[in-house]
Amino acid sequence: MTDNAQKSMEDIVSLCKRRGFVYPASEIYGGINGFWDYGPLGVQLKNNLRDAWWEAMVLNPPKGPDGERLQIVGLDSSIIQNPKVWEASGHVGGFNDPMVDDKETKQRFRADHLVGMYVIERSDQSLQEDIRALFQGLQVGQVLPVKTYIASTVDEAASEIHNTPKKQMHPWTVGEFVNVATRDDPIPPVAPAAEAERHGGGRYAVTLAFVARSALERQAAQIPSPFTGKPGHLTEPRMFNLMFDTYTGAIRNEDNKAYLRPETAQGIFINFKNVVDTSRVKVPFGIAQIGKAFRNEVTPRNFIFRSREFEQMEMEWFCHPEDARKWYQFWQAERKRWWESIGLTSDNLVLREHDRDELSHYAKEGAGTADVEYRYPFTAPGFGELEGVAHRSNFDLSQHEKHARTKLQYFDNTRGELAKNGQPKGEHYLPDVIEPAAGLTRGVLALLCEAYTRDESRPSPEILKLHPRLAPIKAAIFPLVNKDGMPEVADKLHAELQQRFGRSGFIETDAKQSIGKRYARMDEAGCPWCFTIDGDTLTDQTVTARDRDTGEQHRVALDKVSGFLGEKLGL
Ligand code: GAP
Repeated sequence: MTDNAQKSMEDIVSLCKRRGFVYPASEIYGGINGFWDYGPLGVQLKNNLRDAWWEAMVLNPPKGPDGERLQIVGLDSSIIQNPKVWEASGHVGGFNDPMVDDKETKQRFRADHLVGMYVIERSDQSLQEDIRALFQGLQVGQVLPVKTYIASTVDEAASEIHNTPKKQMHPWTVGEFVNVATRDDPIPPVAPAAEAERHGGGRYAVTLAFVARSALERQAAQIPSPFTGKPGHLTEPRMFNLMFDTYTGAIRNEDNKAYLRPETAQGIFINFKNVVDTSRVKVPFGIAQIGKAFRNEVTPRNFIFRSREFEQMEMEWFCHPEDARKWYQFWQAERKRWWESIGLTSDNLVLREHDRDELSHYAKEGAGTADVEYRYPFTAPGFGELEGVAHRSNFDLSQHEKHARTKLQYFDNTRGELAKNGQPKGEHYLPDVIEPAAGLTRGVLALLCEAYTRDESRPSPEILKLHPRLAPIKAAIFPLVNKDGMPEVADKLHAELQQRFGRSGFIETDAKQSIGKRYARMDEAGCPWCFTIDGDTLTDQTVTARDRDTGEQHRVALDKVSGFLGEKLGL
C-alpha cells in the first residue's frame, strides 16, 4: 500500500509512539495540546532532515538559473528579541486569527478557515432538495451559499473545495457537517475516501456556504455550531494574537514584555547588515537559519502537522528588485525538487500559487507566495502546506529601517551609471527578498507519511521505507545465535560500520528473538539493511544481507559489507 489516501494516521501515530519517534509532550501528566516530544529515533530522523537541508542550502547550495555558484551563509539568532522587532514585522498588529468558541463543547476553531463540505449520494433531483434542506431555517442574507458543485467522485469534490478561493467573507459551515474541511488542512474528520466507499460510488454534492463577516458578528447566535449542529452555541469571533508572550527580568509589567519568535525569518532580517558588514557576501545571496518557532495556534491538529512549538528551516534570498521574479521562480522549482530528492514522490507534491486573498501582509503585490504542498493521509486526495516560497519584496528591511531608525540599504558597486573611467558608479537599494520557508517538524511528518507502508504479504506488515540517507538506523547486525563466536564477529562488524556511518544514524545489534522478529522490528524502524552472522560466516566469511524494501536476501563477503552499505546508503 503506497497510496497516501489509504494510509491511516492512527496507524502512523501509533507506530511513531511504539518505536520511539514521537511522544505526546508531558504524557504522564495527561499531555498538553499542541506539543510533542521526539524520541530516540525521532530526534535522529529530525536531525538528519535538518542536516540534509543545511547541506543543500549552506554547505553545498544548488547552481543558480544561469549555472552560477550561489552564496548562502548560516545564522543562529536568539528566540527572544527586542519586542520592537515584532512591531516592525507586523506580528504584534497583524498576526491574528479570528477565533470562535463553542460554548457547550468548549471547542475552539478558526472562523476564517472553515469551509463546509457536504458529501451525499443522491440522484440529481433529491440532491437539490437536500441542498435546500441544508439551508432551511437560516435567514436569507444570513448565509450565502455561494456555490454548489456537483461532482461525480469524492476526489473531484475534495479538489473543488481545495481550489475554491477564499473570499473576503468568512467561510462558514452549515448543514449536516458530514465533513468539515479547512484550507490549511483540508482534511475532513471523516476521510472522503472512506465516505465514498460507504456509499459505493455515485454522485456527490459539495456545498460551500459563506457567511459575511458582518452577519457573523451580528448573528452569531443563529449560526449552527459545527460541533453540535445547534444554533446559539457560538461566541462571536474574537481576534487572537498567535504570539506567546513572556517577561524578561524580575518585574512582570508591559515594559518587560517579550515574545517567543513566531518565525525564524525576522532574526535574519535584523542581522542583514551585520552579515553584509562582516562577511564577503554580495547581492544576490542568502542567509539560512534553522530553529524553534512558537505559535499559540487556535486549533493545533493532525499530529505534528500544526503544533504550538515547532521547527522551521528558512532561507532569505536577498536580490536586486529587477531580478526578484526570476529568483522567485527558481526557488519554487528548486525546493520542490529537493523534497523529491529526499524521498517524497512527485505524485504526492504540488506547487500551488496562493490566491490573492490568501497573501500574507508581506507578500509583494503581483508577486505572491507559492506553497510546496504534500498529500498527507489526512488531506488526501488533496494537499496541505509543507513549505512556502514567498516574494517578501523589501517589506521587512524597510520596516526595520523605519522602526529601528537605521539605514539597511545595500551598496552595489556593480550597478548604476558608468563613471568617466568606464566603471559603474554603484547603486544604493534595499534588496527584495525571496523566502523558501519550510517546516522541519512538518517535513518529518511528510517523510513518515511517505515512508509508512503496509505489506500484508509479510509476517509483520508495517514497514517504514525511509530514504536511506535520512533513516535513523543505518544498519542492524544480527548474530543468528548468541554463541559459537557469532557475537564476536558481530561486534567487530558493528565497530567498523559505526566508525563509518555513525555520524548520521545508529548501527544496531540484536541477538534476541527469532530472526524474523528481529527483521520486523527493523522494518518498522525504517532500517534499510540488516546483516546476519550465521554458521556459514565462520567458515566462508560471508553474511546474509537483507533489503528492508523487498525482504530479499543475498550473501555478501564480510570484508565487503562496509563498501556495500556505503553504496546503498549513498554515503
Ligand atoms: N517566515 C515565513 C513563515 O513563517 P509560514 O508559512 O507561516 O511562513 C513556514 O511558515 C512553514 O513553517 C510552513 O510551511 C510549515 O511547514 C511550518 N509551520 C508553520 N506553522 C506551523 C505549525 N503551527 N506547526 C508546524 N509547522 C508549522
